Amino acid sequence: MHIQKVFKAKSLPAFCSSFISKSITTSTTISAPLKLSLALVCALSIIACKPTKDVTDNAAENNSKIKEHSQSQVLTPERVQTIEALAGVPMQQLVSFDPQEIKQGGDTGISITSSESYSKPSSNITASRKGSFFIGNAFFRQPWVIAPASTDSRDGLGALFNVAACQSCHVKDGRGHAPMNADDDADSLLIRLAMPATTDGQRQQLKDSLIEKVAHPMYGGQLQDRGIQGVPAEARIAVQWTDKPISFADGHIETLRAPTFNLTNPGYGAFDEELMVSPRVALPMIGLGLLEQIPDADIKKQAASNHKNSNDIKGKFNWVMDPKTGKVGLGRFGWKAGQTKLIAQNQSAFNEDMGLTSNIRPHESCMPTQTACVNAITGADEQGNGKPAVEVNDEVAKFVEFYTRNLAVPHRRNADDKLVLAGKKRFYDMGCQSCHTPRYQLPKTADDHLEQHGQVIYPYTDLLLHDMGDDLADRTIAGKLPPKNLQVEFLANSYEWRTPALWGIGLAQTVDPQATFLHDGRARTLMEAVLWHGGEAKKQQQKVLMLDKQGRAELSAFLQSL
Ligand code: HEC
Ligand code: HEC
Repeated sequence: MHIQKVFKAKSLPAFCSSFISKSITTSTTISAPLKLSLALVCALSIIACKPTKDVTDNAAENNSKIKEHSQSQVLTPERVQTIEALAGVPMQQLVSFDPQEIKQGGDTGISITSSESYSKPSSNITASRKGSFFIGNAFFRQPWVIAPASTDSRDGLGALFNVAACQSCHVKDGRGHAPMNADDDADSLLIRLAMPATTDGQRQQLKDSLIEKVAHPMYGGQLQDRGIQGVPAEARIAVQWTDKPISFADGHIETLRAPTFNLTNPGYGAFDEELMVSPRVALPMIGLGLLEQIPDADIKKQAASNHKNSNDIKGKFNWVMDPKTGKVGLGRFGWKAGQTKLIAQNQSAFNEDMGLTSNIRPHESCMPTQTACVNAITGADEQGNGKPAVEVNDEVAKFVEFYTRNLAVPHRRNADDKLVLAGKKRFYDMGCQSCHTPRYQLPKTADDHLEQHGQVIYPYTDLLLHDMGDDLADRTIAGKLPPKNLQVEFLANSYEWRTPALWGIGLAQTVDPQATFLHDGRARTLMEAVLWHGGEAKKQQQKVLMLDKQGRAELSAFLQSL
């Protein structure tokens, strides 16, 4: 049944309630002077041999001042200024207990700590708008089917695809996980592919953000590990894990696991050695409408404030083609910030992950040489022979967009707890906020994003790309590190990742016990995720390694409270 027809046949409330009940029942989701004075105090006390009580007290006090001061040096003055300007409050308020921060998603947030924590609509949504959320939910949750089918509002899956439903990867609206071992199917992880540019024309197009990347001539830009009957899958994804112990200064050892991704059973010929392979687990769906409303200028300002100095942290924004408008703009969604708007991200998911066409992405994701894929029956017909022109029509696209804009961010838990607050101070002292920007004030814009208008939010991200070092970088299929001047997703290279939002992250494994962290799901705990930080964040990772047992417990408690 096509949704347009549904509207004619049923009233919207009746349609909504049938969808809602269905989705519920099928629910599975020192400054120099200070230094000098301290040196003097020490020198004097050595001369005196037996320092007076006053002198030792002063020394202790000065010592702690020295410490505090050197910690604030982690961030350049420009960066501190930018963070404060975006937040609208001084750094001191951000570091200490801020009652407003309990509602990290502003008035859209919800107070729920169960496996449903990521699945609720914005709490300030009106009853009349809730219907659209639940219709969108149904399209997100329910599997699409192979065409032709009796249910033609959800047919056209494939011919090449990864899984049949958004929810299969975004488990309970949350993140995905990496496969456990070589036999485990990569069900909530996908592999993006890119080739080096070979012509000046391609290089220029990449420079101007006119193309996302140079796709592989046989395999395209994303590996689809499933095909409908008669259409060979592109390959099988098999992962292998290698233990990587890492020691803290106090001798404590954490054992990280490093993945090797192998693509076996290639369906369309051997892979080229220089093929760049980028494994990615699904990102959580919460708060995306809020991230979408952060003004471009706020993100650009951060890139500028990072660049002004010799600080190790740079941060650049991605500049990408918006398939809806045909214009280039700021990228903010995806692990490499390759998508401008939710609608574009969603339609590319429909297209590349599920093999579904829409007005923004009107062509099946088959390479011209994949003839079985090209010739497969689809749920649409561009010539209009009694079938809709695309598989996901604009109405369905709008419902899904509304849904993805309105998944509420759960409130913080234990935000005023002593351990959590000590961990929060450590987070700031170590300079994690250099990239994980705490707070933004959203504007009121002329659009209909009513739930998001004017909210004060605490996402802990700058939405910028950072070089996170060799260990986190994508490799070629031959296991080599690609050169840094090769663009794999608009302006991003293999080493660069967008700082992910941290809100709600403490509930990730409450929502799905299998959930894992970082772009390829290699981190099983939040501490593991932090320990993998390298490149621009190497200094922060080194500071984490200096933490003692108490310090580690504090940092973990803070991250868990987000
Ligand atoms: C095969 C697994 C898979 C399926 C199916 C899938 N996604 Fe995703 N989703 C991902 C991955 C992986 C990312 C990160 C993409 C990237 O880095 O390019 C992502 C990212 C997103 C984002 C951006 C989140 C952010 O924080 O930037 C949105 C929105 C999204 N998906 C919506 C959808 C919708 C809507 C559907 C169904 C039409 C869907 N996804 C289906 C795996 C999947
Ligand atoms: C240079 C910028 C930068 C700094 C500094 C930084 N991070 Fe990150 N953080 C990132 C990026 C980028 C990622 C994603 C990397 C990836 O997936 O490969 C990330 C990922 C994370 C994650 C996992 C998020 C997820 O969704 O999987 C956590 C937790 C985290 N950071 C915490 C911290 C803490 C704690 C600190 C300070 C000790 C810190 N970060 C410092 C940029 C930074």
